[in-house]
Amino acid sequence: ITAMAQVPRESEIKAAMQEAYDQFKSNTGGANANYIPYLDHVNKNLYGIVVATVDGKVYELGDTKYEFGIESCSKIFVLALAMQERGLKQIEDSIGVDATGMPFNSVIAIELEPQRTVNPLVNAGAMATNSFVQAPNKQAKWEKIDAWFTRFAGRKLPVIEELYKSESETNQHNQGIALLLQSYGRMYDDPLMTCDLYTRQCSYGVSARDLAIMGATFANGGKQPVTKDQIIDTKYVPRILAIMATSGLYDGSGDWLYRVGLPAKSGVGGGIVTVVPGKMAICVFAPPLDKAGNSVKAQLAIQHMVKKMGLNLF
Ligand code: DON
Repeated sequence: ITAMAQVPRESEIKAAMQEAYDQFKSNTGGANANYIPYLDHVNKNLYGIVVATVDGKVYELGDTKYEFGIESCSKIFVLALAMQERGLKQIEDSIGVDATGMPFNSVIAIELEPQRTVNPLVNAGAMATNSFVQAPNKQAKWEKIDAWFTRFAGRKLPVIEELYKSESETNQHNQGIALLLQSYGRMYDDPLMTCDLYTRQCSYGVSARDLAIMGATFANGGKQPVTKDQIIDTKYVPRILAIMATSGLYDGSGDWLYRVGLPAKSGVGGGIVTVVPGKMAICVFAPPLDKAGNSVKAQLAIQHMVKKMGLNLF
């Protein structure tokens, strides 16, 4: 029996998707992110579900082609880059891997443990991780990040310039965090340049289809299931998934793991990507968020599908 044999059958996947789609389509909970003006104006009724399996099949339902802001979902891929380049020990020592249990933009989390930074999936640690990517200058660093994301998506991703502009005009809090990290010796390149590159990485436009395929790379031991490109060493994958399990939904992470039992990553653009190791990734996109910044519909739909297909790891 191969790992692929454990992937749920096509009919089972499609039935779970349809049921989750129908059940939560008219849910009106949550609100678009409004601290980034662009996101506030995205159609709140958009709703798409995609399953990408490790054997390279992709199932889509609803608004799966719409390109939304990747936002914090970008953090797992930049973490993968830094880990691949620098190895585990440097990530553990220079960034830190433990959960903060605090909101994604928390300054208190930094103040409480300045010697440990935070972790790579909250804003502070994600900027530190971005600064940790090795390149001689800003342009070269962006090109490296861009080439990396291209490999995960299997296509060159657009930057939503309007989102980048909107977020750049309103990211003073993140600039403050970047400078604060520098004051503690936890920022590894120019802080404001890093904040800008981080803002740009968050402004990638991805469809639910893109993000599901990108996530399925982690389900498939670091090998992109459609292009068959081995992007990261398989040994790093469990480490990334562990950080996603403890921190992927910020201060909602504990509740998520309790209810769903799978590693995931959310973004304030409304996407959540969930990884089912050895089987698939599920990405759901729907803009309205709960107070922690996680898509309400995406959480409900993924929880439903995971239960229906019996995918909870525990
Ligand atoms: O830095 C920010 O605030 C955004 N670019 C990303 C935050 C985010 O996606 C948190 N997500 N749930």
